[in-house]
Amino acid sequence: MAALLEVQNLVKTFGTVRAVDSASLVVEPNTITALIGPNGSGKTTLFNLITGYLPPDSGRVSFRGRDITGSDAGSLYRRGLSRTFQQARVFPALTVQENLTVAAGYSWGQLFGRRLNRSDRERVSELLEEFRLGHVADLFASELSYGQRKLLEFAAVLMSSPSLIMLDEPTAGVNPVMIETMEHHIRQRHAAGITFLIVEHDMTFVMRLCNPVIVLDQGREIFAGAPAEVQNNPLVLDAYLGS
Ligand SMILES: Nc1ncnc2c1ncn2[C@@H]1O[C@H](COP(=O)(O)OP(=O)(O)OP(=O)(O)O)[C@@H](O)[C@H]1O
Ligand SMILES: [Mg+2]
Repeated sequence: MAALLEVQNLVKTFGTVRAVDSASLVVEPNTITALIGPNGSGKTTLFNLITGYLPPDSGRVSFRGRDITGSDAGSLYRRGLSRTFQQARVFPALTVQENLTVAAGYSWGQLFGRRLNRSDRERVSELLEEFRLGHVADLFASELSYGQRKLLEFAAVLMSSPSLIMLDEPTAGVNPVMIETMEHHIRQRHAAGITFLIVEHDMTFVMRLCNPVIVLDQGREIFAGAPAEVQNNPLVLDAYLGS
């Protein structure tokens, strides 16, 4: 089967730092693929290049067989490629319900001035229920716990009906119960046909949830394989031990 996402020889430099150094990788459809690597190995930069938040210096990204290199984030979101951020990004001055509504593509003016169509309204209610955010629906996002904000951010990307969701450290700074909740939702949505690419430092989470695991070091893929193979791979151990 053709890859859902393909990255070829992607390069991004910041001054003298080659944050992404000719990286190539593929994400196969219907996988929960992990992207791991030491701090500073280029994972977030790679996410930013793929999702249109930064232009690459060179290289190519294709999604569902089409070249998307340099496309803007909004158009990729509408085409089914969505992501979350290492530091959760939600609109703090909007309520939880309003955050989900704007994620469906309603402008701020429409949000306050116009009724939503029925199907979007229903999807907002379903997500509030599914993510157990109903009781906080009218709170401002700024009033949520950090874990709840991450959950809201995840719920919000589902409003775009994505085929690929890229999560940047979904469990970082989140309590154990919320980590289980996050895992539950990833599994549910994966079962419903969504592909995931997940950057994560929590190795037990990665090992039980993800396959394959891609390892990035100094801006390029050094290994891709099943979780059991990753743990004993000498290249990976070297990368983490810094030798
Ligand atoms: N906007 C920027 N300007 C300058 N340097 C940057 C910028 N963004 C990232 N870098 C550098 O690029 C390298 C890769 O950073 P990146 O944030 O992509 O790593 P990461 O793998 O996501 O790390 P972490 O696991 O700590 O989140 C680092 O050396 C970082 O300092
Ligand atoms: Mg990062």
